[in-house]
Amino acid sequence: MFPRPLYQLPEGYQMGTESYLSGGSAALRRVPTPRARTRSALLPSMLMFGVILASSALLLMIERGILSEVKTPPPRGDPAWNPQGREYLGDGGDLELHIVREIRNRTLRSVCGQGEGARGVWDLPASQRRTLFKHVLVSDKYRFLYCFVPKVACSNWKRVLKVLGGSLQSVDTGGKMDHHSDLLFLADLSPDGIRHRLRHYFKFLFVRDPMERLLSAYRNKFGEVREYQRRYGLEIVRRYRGREARRSNGDDVTFTEFLRYLLDEEAEKMNDHWMPVYHLCQPCALNYDFIGSYERLREDANHVLHTVNAPPTVRFPERQAWYRPVTKETLEYFLCNTPRGLIRDLLPKYIMDYTLFGYPLPNITSQRCAH
Ligand SMILES: *[C@@H]1O[C@H](CO)[C@@H](O)[C@H](O)[C@H]1NC(C)=O
Ligand SMILES: *[C@@H]1O[C@H](CO)[C@@H](O)[C@H](O)[C@H]1NC(C)=O
Repeated sequence: MFPRPLYQLPEGYQMGTESYLSGGSAALRRVPTPRARTRSALLPSMLMFGVILASSALLLMIERGILSEVKTPPPRGDPAWNPQGREYLGDGGDLELHIVREIRNRTLRSVCGQGEGARGVWDLPASQRRTLFKHVLVSDKYRFLYCFVPKVACSNWKRVLKVLGGSLQSVDTGGKMDHHSDLLFLADLSPDGIRHRLRHYFKFLFVRDPMERLLSAYRNKFGEVREYQRRYGLEIVRRYRGREARRSNGDDVTFTEFLRYLLDEEAEKMNDHWMPVYHLCQPCALNYDFIGSYERLREDANHVLHTVNAPPTVRFPERQAWYRPVTKETLEYFLCNTPRGLIRDLLPKYIMDYTLFGYPLPNITSQRCAH
C-alpha cells in the first residue's frame, strides 16, 4: 500500500544502546583515521536528519492532502468511476502507482526546496558534479538522460540503451555486459552539450529500498566477485578483525562488517555500488522528470520507454535466469542479525534516499525480529 509516513522512526531506534563496537574487536581502536573523519562527517548528516524530521509534519500533510483528494475506487468495471480522465490512468489505471509517484514528486520538491544545498548541477562542488556526470547516460536519438544506479537494474537499462542506439541486436543477447563500450555519458560531453541536453531531454532514474540495495551489493560483490574481495574485503577484515584478519582472504566479510565499513566511509567517496543515490544522481540539483522504482520495475520501465517513444519492439529485459533476488525475508533475516545500534548509526548516511524516495525505515524492533 502507501509508503508509511516518513517521520516515523520505529521504536527500536530510540532504544539500542547495545554496542556493536565492543564484542571482541579491540582491533577497532587501532583504526583511527576513518572513524575520526566520520565523527565530523556525521554531524552534517545528523543536522540534515533533524531538518527532515522537522519537515515531517509538512510531509504528512502533503500525504494526507493527496489521500483526501483521491476517492476510493468502486469495484472494478463500474462505469461510474471516472477519475477525471487523468493521463496517468493510461498506465493501466493504477491509482496506487500514481499516488506513490505523486508523493515522491512532492516530497522531492519540498525536501529539496528547503535545504541550502545546491540549486542546480553547476552549483555543485566539482567532485560531486563529476560523479553525477559519470552516471548519466545519454540517448541523443530518443532525447533522454538516464542516471544509472548500480544494483537497480542498471545493466538492463544499459542493454536497452545499446539496442536503442543500434549497437546491440536484442536486449536478450547473452554474455557479459560491457558497462562502457557503445555508451555515451554526460561526462563525455562539453559543458554546452551538457547544458543543452539537461534543458531539453527527458531525465529519469530508478531507485530501490536502500537497505535492499546494500544487501544486494554485499551478496553480489563479496559473495561472487574476486576483485571486490581483494580490493575491499581484505581492507574490511583488516580494519575490523584485528589478528583474526590474517586468516581471511577477503571472501568472508560479514554483512555487519560491511555495514560498519560503510559507516566509516565518506558517502561522497564510496564505490558507486553502495554510494547513496542522493550523491550518485543528485536529485535535488538535477530536475528529473521521472523516478521509477525497482519494486515496480516493469511498469515503470514501460512507462519510460513509452514516454521517450521507443519502438514497441524494444522492451525491458526479463530478469536474468541466474539472478538471485533479495526477498523481504532475506533482508529481514540479515537486518535482524545485525546489531541494532549499527543500523541506527548508519541510517543518517542514507536518510536522503529513504526520505526523498519514500521508503520506510527498516523495522528491526524486537517483536519484528522475534520470528
Ligand atoms: C514493526 O513490526 C512489528 C511486528 O510486526 C509491529 O508490531 C510494529 O508495529 C512495526 N513497527 C513499525 C514502526 O512499523
Ligand atoms: C513532478 O510533477 C511535475 C508536474 O506534474 C512533473 O512535470 C514532473 O515531471 C514530476 N517529476 C517527477 C520526478 O515525477
